[in-house]
Amino acid sequence: MAILPIRLIPDSVLRVDCPEVTEFDDDLRRLVEDMVETMYAAPGVGLAAPQVGIEKRLAVVDVSVGKAEGALKVLVNPKIVSQEGKVTDFEGCLSIPDISEKVARPRKIEVEAQDVDGERFTFETEDFEARAVCHEVDHLDGVLFIDHLRGLRREKVKRQIRKLGLT
Ligand code: NI
Repeated sequence: MAILPIRLIPDSVLRVDCPEVTEFDDDLRRLVEDMVETMYAAPGVGLAAPQVGIEKRLAVVDVSVGKAEGALKVLVNPKIVSQEGKVTDFEGCLSIPDISEKVARPRKIEVEAQDVDGERFTFETEDFEARAVCHEVDHLDGVLFIDHLRGLRREKVKRQIRKLGLT
């Protein structure tokens, strides 16, 4: 296993609309292991393949950051198929260090995905984990949490990004 370098804005790989994973092989398994290790080392609650420079619809989420058994979700080709409610809360991103802002996300979602063997599965999740999954699925479409900000919040974050030299 290996800890992979995390790409930061304005790296163009973070803006790619990633293609679906079609090969469920040892390379995919290795990439998933490395992404999990990278997420835990960061530490973070989620990591998407483009954040480590890989243009694939693949993300890992663990809101316990490795502390709770069974909390890790490996999401290959994930899709949010239904959603309800809305919660606005703080959110950050390993690719946009030191910045967090309030973003509106669905309170509860239903997700369809494949596992590392290509097996399809469906699950429901809510609150913080739903937020993390929505954030990672956005990454696979080249969307960052700051894209959801409007008005003064957007201007404030733009200023912070400039200050950090991340433009
Ligand atoms: Ni992120």
